[in-house]
Amino acid sequence: MDFFRYQNGELYAENVAVSKIAADYGTPLYIYSKATLLRHVEAFKQAFAGRNGLICYAVKANSNLAILQLLSKQNIGFDIVSGGELARVMAAGADPSKVIFSGVAKTEEEITMALEAGILCFNVESAMELDRINTVAGRLGKVAPISFRINPNVDAHTHPYISTGLKENKFGIPVETAFDEYLRAEKMEHVKIVGLDFHIGSQLTEISPYIDAIRALKKLIRQLYAAGIKLHHLDIGGGLGVTYSQEAPPLPNELINAAYEELADLFEDVGELQIVVEPGRSIVANAGIFVYKVEFTKDNLGKNFAIVDAGMNDNIRPSLYSAFMNIITVIENPESELKLYDVVGPVCETGDFQGKNRQLRIQQGDLLAMRGSGAYCASMGSQYNSRPKCVEVLVDDEQVHVIRERETYADLWAKEKLLAE
Ligand code: LLP
Repeated sequence: MDFFRYQNGELYAENVAVSKIAADYGTPLYIYSKATLLRHVEAFKQAFAGRNGLICYAVKANSNLAILQLLSKQNIGFDIVSGGELARVMAAGADPSKVIFSGVAKTEEEITMALEAGILCFNVESAMELDRINTVAGRLGKVAPISFRINPNVDAHTHPYISTGLKENKFGIPVETAFDEYLRAEKMEHVKIVGLDFHIGSQLTEISPYIDAIRALKKLIRQLYAAGIKLHHLDIGGGLGVTYSQEAPPLPNELINAAYEELADLFEDVGELQIVVEPGRSIVANAGIFVYKVEFTKDNLGKNFAIVDAGMNDNIRPSLYSAFMNIITVIENPESELKLYDVVGPVCETGDFQGKNRQLRIQQGDLLAMRGSGAYCASMGSQYNSRPKCVEVLVDDEQVHVIRERETYADLWAKEKLLAE
């Protein structure tokens, strides 16, 4: 559920007309709803009610400082994948003891930074990474808390670019060699084993791949306990899908209940582990819309284009994954003829589109809103074609807060240097 609604033919973000926000701040722009964001966090909290769970929001989905600050105030943790994300969550007031560090290529500098901050755990993705963490921790006279990211070799039934739990994917260590890595880690002086984790992909619309993964890993956990290696937590990753079109993904409580059910016999034998989740998309996607303006329409011998002021640099999801994202009119325009449009942007690439074959009633100057744009849109934005990154605002009831200013042209080359003449 979200708080973007039509009232008398006009789209509202909470209690502010989207057209008013666009008039005040220009287009293209991202608009987030605070109430929606908090509602999604609450759904995860409710799913864990009375249980030992930890929600670590996946920062990559939307890393805006104000969003991180709001989430941090909800006492949830963060899943980070870079030093930059660690710096962001710290700047937003996060509690480092609820931060987990994923990613396949952690540098010495990033490991140092995370150890100094005192994070909850490193999700280790290779044998060499384990060695590196042990060495860096030794150098600092610290003990690094670690978990292994296990690749359970299950099919998440999602887009190949966002599927991560198959053996041909670069992520994690194979379940077959994991036991030996745990034994190796157990003997290391500067690491402490605290968990086991998996993340099998994103935009999952079924529970079964999670259950397949848990089933595959229960055996490993039992093996570890038999060898005297105890765990504090099991991290089942992120990946819960959202509705962009007709998808009907499971709700957080359905996923969490199913996970506990599958884990019941294990917990009886080894005691209850904390369950960690790393949701990104399911928290922010439907808390955001992307608003842009129709600059021109054109009819190329029967093929209609709506040329908008938003490009693949602002939102690359349609171009990169052929992702379908729903496009609606901000103010209904019943007078305009209903036509089939490709909604395309100003970037000089054929792949620069926001949507194809969309039935719309529009004319020049109309505003369009793209639903589900809170996740992996602004955070994947670039300045390609020297287009300044756009403004982001957060609506809280009747108030609009700018949480990222629109970049200026000078921002485009702020870090560049002219050669001496
Ligand atoms: N944990 C790890 C280790 C991850 O790699 C990811 C996402 C998440 C958690 C959060 O997954 P979520 O709950 O958001 O599905 N750019 C793509 C999605 C890439 C996801 C990458 N990893 C898109 O726009 O669809």
